[in-house]
Amino acid sequence: MLTQDELKTQVGQAALKYVVAGEIVGVGTGSTVNKFIDALAALRHQIKGAVSSSLASTERLQALGIKVFDANEVGELAVYIDGADEIDGSGCMIKGGGAALTREKIVAAQSRMFVCIADESKRVQTLGKFPLPVEVIPMATGRLIRQFTELGGVAKLRMKGELPWVTDNGQHILDVTGLQISEPLKFESMVSQWPGVVTVGVFAHQRAQVCLLGTAQGVITLNF
Ligand code: 5RP
Repeated sequence: MLTQDELKTQVGQAALKYVVAGEIVGVGTGSTVNKFIDALAALRHQIKGAVSSSLASTERLQALGIKVFDANEVGELAVYIDGADEIDGSGCMIKGGGAALTREKIVAAQSRMFVCIADESKRVQTLGKFPLPVEVIPMATGRLIRQFTELGGVAKLRMKGELPWVTDNGQHILDVTGLQISEPLKFESMVSQWPGVVTVGVFAHQRAQVCLLGTAQGVITLNF
């Protein structure tokens, strides 16, 4: 029986086949992506470099000798590789457990293909069991908490010790429980329009085209 960590290693390595030689690869954030970055080091001389979705991934990429480009220095990317907190049967995801959702969505939008790497615990019928991360402008927090209450959810400010968690963009995160997101496209469009929302962690407009799912039987490729 493989551990969750071993499943993450497997999908991280399996994602290498989507990396295009001579190109710049979009790189997500999280413990599964860390396995991908470690595997990518072996290909560092075959790629131009990466566009990263967080300071943490940037540090890891650079430590392994992989050049990191600013998103504005480069055009469209062939592929973006990232993990997820949940993924449904259409490739729609909840992301942002690692608080990097805004830059993740930006790099995903700049890429032709999103390859999600995840262990099988992330596969769900309907999004919403994992608390939905929402990056918010701090002065809007109180009103946004009330708006999520009206939807039937419970929104809590993410903390780091006694203080609110601060993202790479200097903003805060709400984690929302109690939602059943059966229409992810509609939900993402609606919440994205609420004043003070920077990014909602539903990735439906930027959903995955492929998911490499780590299972006890090996890596399964889901195409959406
Ligand atoms: C970070 C993310 C991650 O992709 C998501 O939280 C999954 O992380 P992990 O691979 O550690 O389970 O969205 O903002």
